[in-house]
Amino acid sequence: MSLFLLVVLLTSLYAVPGTSTSTHHPRPPTKHCTVKHNHDGSDDSANILHAFTACATDSFITFLPANYSAYTPITLAGLNNVVIHLNGNLLLPNNIEEVQQKINVSTNQPSTYATPWFYFHGSNVQLIGSAEFEWGRFYGFGNHWWDLGVRTLRPQLATFNITNGLMRNLKVIKPVAWGWNIPGTDLRVENHFVDAKPDNGTRWNTISFPFNTDGINISGHNVTVASYYGHNGDDCISIINGAQNVFATNGFCGFSSHGLSIGSLGSKGSFQTVQDVVFKNWTMDGAVYGARFKSWTGGAGFADNVTWEDIKLVNVSTAIFLTQNYFDQSLGPPPNVTSNSSTHISNFKYNNFYGGLNANWTDGTCITPVCWNFVEGGDATQSIIFDLYPGTALNISVGSIKVHPFEKPYTETTVICDPETLVPGEQATLGFNCTRGAYVRTPIGSSG
Ligand SMILES: *[C@@H]1O[C@H](CO)[C@@H](O)[C@H](O)[C@H]1NC(C)=O
Ligand SMILES: *[C@@H]1O[C@H](CO)[C@@H](O)[C@H](O)[C@H]1NC(C)=O
Ligand SMILES: *[C@@H]1O[C@H](CO)[C@@H](O)[C@H](O)[C@H]1NC(C)=O
Ligand SMILES: *[C@@H]1O[C@H](CO)[C@@H](O)[C@H](O)[C@H]1NC(C)=O
Ligand SMILES: *[C@@H]1O[C@H](CO)[C@@H](O)[C@H](O)[C@H]1NC(C)=O
Ligand SMILES: *[C@@H]1O[C@H](CO)[C@@H](O)[C@H](O)[C@H]1NC(C)=O
Ligand SMILES: *[C@@H]1O[C@H](CO)[C@@H](O)[C@H](O)[C@H]1NC(C)=O
Ligand SMILES: *[C@@H]1O[C@H](CO)[C@@H](O)[C@H](O)[C@H]1NC(C)=O
Ligand SMILES: *[C@@H]1O[C@H](CO)[C@@H](O)[C@H](O)[C@H]1NC(C)=O
Ligand SMILES: *[C@@H]1O[C@H](CO)[C@@H](O)[C@H](O)[C@H]1NC(C)=O
Ligand SMILES: *[C@@H]1O[C@H](CO)[C@@H](O)[C@H](O)[C@H]1NC(C)=O
Ligand SMILES: *[C@@H]1O[C@H](CO)[C@@H](O)[C@H](O)[C@H]1NC(C)=O
Repeated sequence: MSLFLLVVLLTSLYAVPGTSTSTHHPRPPTKHCTVKHNHDGSDDSANILHAFTACATDSFITFLPANYSAYTPITLAGLNNVVIHLNGNLLLPNNIEEVQQKINVSTNQPSTYATPWFYFHGSNVQLIGSAEFEWGRFYGFGNHWWDLGVRTLRPQLATFNITNGLMRNLKVIKPVAWGWNIPGTDLRVENHFVDAKPDNGTRWNTISFPFNTDGINISGHNVTVASYYGHNGDDCISIINGAQNVFATNGFCGFSSHGLSIGSLGSKGSFQTVQDVVFKNWTMDGAVYGARFKSWTGGAGFADNVTWEDIKLVNVSTAIFLTQNYFDQSLGPPPNVTSNSSTHISNFKYNNFYGGLNANWTDGTCITPVCWNFVEGGDATQSIIFDLYPGTALNISVGSIKVHPFEKPYTETTVICDPETLVPGEQATLGFNCTRGAYVRTPIGSSG
């Protein structure tokens, strides 16, 4: 074997199995650092920072099978060609005031709504949790926040802002709120686990409800999520502004998930985009929505080429929900919009949705006299709610839908859709009768 071939073979062992062929594979790491663990339970953050500084490049970083106290928000940046083995767990402080005070002064780069407790930045980084279920965990102790309804100064768990990265076998246990943000490029998330379910609450209890516990937010490019299992009280996967080329496959979303979501896009008239997204083979159990798209009233930008396919529904409130006219109804009437447009949508495909609906169209997140997700006429029988902005939705199609309302036959499922909002000719390719009433499947003809 030539030296060249040997090098190629060795190098390929360390290539991240992303969605695209990377042009550059790093050398195998040569350095090793083990993260020291304080046996008295005191803050290990300095130990973590120390290992990540000493081994920032061409390195393996190993956590021991132990509970590390990650009591201070940290930024782990400047990483290049690093394989992290999280054989232990990372625990946030089990004390609400301490977390609030520390996140309040953290200089970690914030996300849209919150500041992450852990911020990873760099290239060619693999973060690999233990294969054992008891390890590779991030403990947020969020259940105390949920029980008390504390929603101020909540941290987001983590941001993985990596070019060419892998996250595998990570477990998020009772996060305070939002989970992982993924703004990077060429990334793969595998076997992700989320437990954001209250141990003593139901989906229609506001008390102890895990508000804003989104599983994964993706704004990156070339991202694959393969195998996800979670219980939470907000989106399982949320694809937000900037995302392109995302595959999210083989997942389970339980408790009271808010769905496999795109958006919100176009807040305050902003130009925002999402393109080339596939959700395939998901089970939605107790979710408020199966598939969801949301853009703000008066928004700009576009979402193009999005597919939701092979979606099993168990007690889901609404199977397919799409609005281009979103506003926060809990704050009052719709804003006066002057832009006379909306975020354009095109080439959306929904196919093979099957299962049953919930008795309720909302959940414990409805905390105002008018629910945030109230829809006139919505009565938990809807498989499809399309709230389109006239003339800005092109080539939307809904294929096979076999969904029954709670304890009712399949024939009793309904839709809400206003034919006046359809682009001329769009009904011929829509796949169902756009009306307010019974769901009637129609053939999907050729467009144009
Ligand atoms: C994503 O992958 C495609 C090939 O699959 C490649 O052409 C493109 O440059 C990649 N985009 C980014 C942002 O890496
Ligand atoms: C680690 O911490 C978790 C959460 O507090 C606890 O349930 C678990 O028993 C701890 N494990 C060890 C080995 O101390
Ligand atoms: C957060 O920071 C602000 C501004 O520095 C300060 O006024 C406030 O008291 C802090 N809150 C907490 C809970 O630490
Ligand atoms: C993730 O995206 C969802 C949907 O836009 C949003 O509600 C949530 O606040 C976002 N989380 C973060 C940390 O940005
Ligand atoms: C991710 O890192 C890039 C620089 O590499 C930066 O411009 C961007 O703001 C970061 N995004 C987030 C959400 O942290
Ligand atoms: C769950 O338990 C906590 C702590 O005992 C309590 O404060 C909370 O009200 C309980 N939630 C429900 C829905 O009963
Ligand atoms: C669909 O996803 C589930 C996990 O939720 C997995 O067990 C199953 O093998 C997947 N099916 C296919 C056809 O990939
Ligand atoms: C739509 O997006 C998917 C996922 O990124 C991609 O595989 C497919 O090629 C795209 N289709 C078109 C017509 O761009
Ligand atoms: C749906 O929820 C009801 C309780 O509201 C429960 O009785 C039923 O077993 C659930 N259906 C499925 C298929 O899990
Ligand atoms: C919206 O416009 C109407 C009529 O022009 C006006 O009465 C109302 O106060 C405006 N609302 C807001 C929030 O500006
Ligand atoms: C629907 O929600 C209400 C509370 O809003 C709850 O009392 C009721 O049990 C739920 N119905 C079912 C069938 O789950
Ligand atoms: C579609 O719904 C309209 C009512 O909005 C009804 O008049 C028409 O017959 C329906 N078409 C089909 C094919 O069911």
